[in-house]
Parts: sequence; C-alpha cells; structure tokens
Amino acid sequence: MSVDVDSIRYILAIESSCDETAAAVIDSDLEVRSSVIASQYELHRDFGGVVPEIASRAHVRRILPVIDESLKQAGIALDDVGAVAVATQPGLVGSLLVGLTAAKTLALVLDVPLIDVNHIEAHIYACRMAAGRDVFPAIGFVVSGGHSNIYDCTSPIDFELIGSTIDDAAGEAFDKVAQILDIGFPGGPAIQRVAEKGNPKAIRFPRTFLKEDRLEFSFSGLKTAVLYTVKGVPGSHKEPEPLTEQRIADIAASFQAAAVDVLAGKCEQALKQRGRDRLCVGGGVAANALLRQQLEKMTHRNGVELHVAPMALCTDNAAMAAIAWEHLKRGRFAELDLDVTPGLVRQKR
Ligand code: KG4
Ligand code: ZN
Repeated sequence: MSVDVDSIRYILAIESSCDETAAAVIDSDLEVRSSVIASQYELHRDFGGVVPEIASRAHVRRILPVIDESLKQAGIALDDVGAVAVATQPGLVGSLLVGLTAAKTLALVLDVPLIDVNHIEAHIYACRMAAGRDVFPAIGFVVSGGHSNIYDCTSPIDFELIGSTIDDAAGEAFDKVAQILDIGFPGGPAIQRVAEKGNPKAIRFPRTFLKEDRLEFSFSGLKTAVLYTVKGVPGSHKEPEPLTEQRIADIAASFQAAAVDVLAGKCEQALKQRGRDRLCVGGGVAANALLRQQLEKMTHRNGVELHVAPMALCTDNAAMAAIAWEHLKRGRFAELDLDVTPGLVRQKR
C-alpha cells in the first residue's frame, strides 16, 4: 500500500483488550478529538474479576456503537479516517479478536493503513500525550490489573522490558485484597476509599523486594498475609481480630502502604540501574493517590522528572493508542493477516 502520511489527519483507534470497549479519534497534532469507553464493570462485578467469555460477547455487542459514537463526538465522517489503529497485545484472546476484526474490516473497506498497537506501550505513551512534548528516553512503568511492568524506553517506539511480576500484577493484588475484605470491585478504588479512614501503620505487612538487583515484583506473599490477617493463620488456634469497620480500614491502609512502597521502590531501582532521569507511569493503579504521592517524593529526592498519566488516560481507553502516530510516521504498518498476541512479548521489538 502506498501511503501519503502527510495527508492523514485522523487516526481511529480501537481498544478491546480486556473489559473496556473503547474507540477514539486522534488528530495529527496528537489532539484527542473523542474518546468513548463502554465499561463492562457491571457484567463482571458479581464474579469479582473479569470473565473472558462474557467480556468477548459484550465487546461484540458494543464495538460498532462505540466506534460510531467516537466518530460522532469527533465530528468526522468515516471517510475522514486516514488510518485505523488497534491494540492487539497483550490481553484476553477473545476480546482482542473483536477489536482486531473491526479494525481490519474498516482498514480494508476504507483502504487505509492498519496499525498494530501494544496496549502496555500505549499506557506509557499516555504520559507523552499529557506532557505535550517528547518524554523519551525514560523508564516506563505500567501498573494495571494485568501487568506490573518496567521498561527502559529509549524512544517512543523502543520499549525494552526490564522488569515484571513473577505472580500477581499490582492491580490484581488490589482486586483480590478488596475481595478478601468484601469491599467491592474493582478493588483499587475501593481499597483507596476505605484506606482513607485507616491507619497505614496498624499492621506491618511484608514488602517483597526479591533480589535488590532484580526488577521483579511478587505480590502473592502480601496477598496471603492479608488473607491470614483476616481469616487467621491455618493451623493456628489464635482467632483473628473481629472485622470491624475500623479493622477493615486499617488492613486496607496497611496493604496499600506495603504495595505502594514496593512499586515506588522498584521504580527507584530501575531509574538508578539504567541511569535515567525521567519516569513515565501509566495503567489503572497509577490512579492511586498514595502511589502518586510516593512517586513524587521519590523522584524529587532523586532529581528525576515524573510523568504520571492523567486520570482519564490511566485506566483502559483508546486515546492512548495515539502511539500509532509514531508508527505511522515511521511507515510501520501492519498487514491484513495481523493476529492478536494475548501474552506479553518479552523481547525488545
Ligand atoms: O489499566 P486498567 O484499567 O486495566 C488493565 O489493563 O488491567 O487497570 C485496572 C486495574 C484494576 O485492578 C483496578 O483495581 C486498578 O487498576 N485501579 C486502582 C485504582 N483505580 C484502578 N488500583 C489502586 N488504586 C486506584 N485508585
Ligand atoms: Zn490496561
């Protein structure tokens, strides 16, 4: 396909990697003309987590209305779309396929380029969009329901994965602890709300740093420690303290403090290891107020420039797929046989 990139004014971006069906229109100045998100929160709430098959079916029903609405809000017609971007990795296979099929069909019918977007890289790129200027090279940190990944980002398209979790992702830990405490789903916002009335020093939960020189996270020990605090240690005759409202708040606050200490600590380690002076943070857990505070303190202490994605771009959305412009400018288009990659691609792309 011969493409005159300079003549393209709008990218239509599609996101369906997990449980949000989203579409956005981003113009060539990286201005977000529309960003529509249909959340499936109410469909998964009773299960305490995202059910993949329910998610895919809901995407099928919602994808076209969401795309229509994004064009309407942007005030453009389908013919104005100059390229179609779609998140193809990582995520739930069925969910990703819905977005990819819609994107391929549009690219084929409109005869415009198709651009492959990595959802995690897009989370980091949200910082670039908010900054309104180049923010690379930087350490990129994505803390979401599915990932706790640290990247060394040498440019807007070169992301080297240098750290991840060996068990639960940070958001997953928030969600599971909220489930243990029975305070709601998704867990992150619930923990943050309940923790406001709690004492973060009430219980000294473990901070798992693993090996100092390794940029890996592990949250399963912390989650188990919360479980034992609530239900009692198996085999022990000691009864757990009654779960009063105050006790729940204290546990939530103490858990949040422990999780945030580790998240901020590993970022500091990554910055030092790679000698970077910029940190870009995105993903759902980046909405956490304590994490934001702690990252501010840590970066200030180290003379590091901090970029945290604005709230609207933290949780899943299609606007962050504006990273597609970087690929477009470099002539990196996908073919129509593009497939989804549900797992995390570890090697440098
Ligand atoms: O990025 P995201 O919307 O979806 C994934 O790609 O996973 O992240 C969702 C995660 C959930 O686990 C949710 O509990 C967490 O982000 N989250 C938070 C907060 N808001 C959302 N975690 C901690 N504090 C918050 N305020
Ligand atoms: Zn995400």
